[in-house]
Amino acid sequence: MVGGEYSLGRFPVTRMRRNRRDDWNRRLVAENMLSAADFILPSFVHDSDVGREDIPSLPGIQRHSISALVDLAGEAKELGIPVLAVFPATDPALKDAAGSESVNPENLVCRAVRAVKDAHPDLGVMCDVALDPFTDHGHDGLLRDGYVVNDETLEVLVRQAVVQADAGCDVISPSDMMDGRVGAIRSALDDASHDAVRIMAYSAKYASALYGPFRDAVGSAPNLAGSSKKTYQMDPANSDEALREVAMDIAEGADMVMVKPGLFYLDIVRRVKDEFGVPTYAYQVSGEYAMMKGAGLNGWLDWDRVIMESLLAFKRAGADGVLTYAATEVASRLKKG
Ligand code: PBG
Repeated sequence: MVGGEYSLGRFPVTRMRRNRRDDWNRRLVAENMLSAADFILPSFVHDSDVGREDIPSLPGIQRHSISALVDLAGEAKELGIPVLAVFPATDPALKDAAGSESVNPENLVCRAVRAVKDAHPDLGVMCDVALDPFTDHGHDGLLRDGYVVNDETLEVLVRQAVVQADAGCDVISPSDMMDGRVGAIRSALDDASHDAVRIMAYSAKYASALYGPFRDAVGSAPNLAGSSKKTYQMDPANSDEALREVAMDIAEGADMVMVKPGLFYLDIVRRVKDEFGVPTYAYQVSGEYAMMKGAGLNGWLDWDRVIMESLLAFKRAGADGVLTYAATEVASRLKKG
């Protein structure tokens, strides 16, 4: 198709390898590149004096005390990373069926956001809206007879969004996949004078097997006990459905949309970007990071090269940015040049 359509020439006059011959030439013809401004750094905070606690299924990534998180935020800021996403590992004793701790203005994530924004007002801070870090059943919403109910859940989610915005969160990121959440959250934020707070919707979020290490990190895996999220997250078989989800979130007021997971879903990223042309992000989720990092630690893959190649793939697919656990590592490598 390419040759026919463009009639760009024919061998031996046209030699595609000429432009690949030298480093300067490869850089000159590069269609995409990575910069620190492409990254959102997901981070974990816990209520503990232990500054940094390793997460075994996410090698190299830690849960942070609030003060260690403030340091991490400073590091990200220094490297030119625009946004820090904060996820709480809630004390199991505070979890209940209603996820009540999610709407406590003094909860861990709100205290963490306040501390980070106090120390680094110019760094963007983003928070998930979903109940899974706070429920004793590990689901993103309220359970009634084993089913996650939509409209009742929305009432809690809007309150969660407002307490997080009150704490100073710049970007609210609904990750629960309830119907109508973006519109409900937008109007609740506006009513609470938070019209400047942005919404990055997890619009096309799939019921993926790649979230395991994240659930270990926030401690929701034991709560969930193998129960699936298939009644609210999308079926990996579907693609057109993602476009409907994105269209609805944009209509409801989303400022930015996200596809999650990342690498297995780059076709969706491309379709979303082509169809809507809105700021489009992808989440390189915990399982993706763990696969590459684990292979690297075993000596089976060259981690340094694989992570760069994977992140470039997001840009090529049309993403405007990527949530990646490798953000600081890669940004510092880019800085060194
Ligand atoms: C919470 C949430 C999840 C992730 C981000 N927000 C887990 C889930 O939906 O079960 C996963 C992120 C990752 O795996 O890195 N709703």
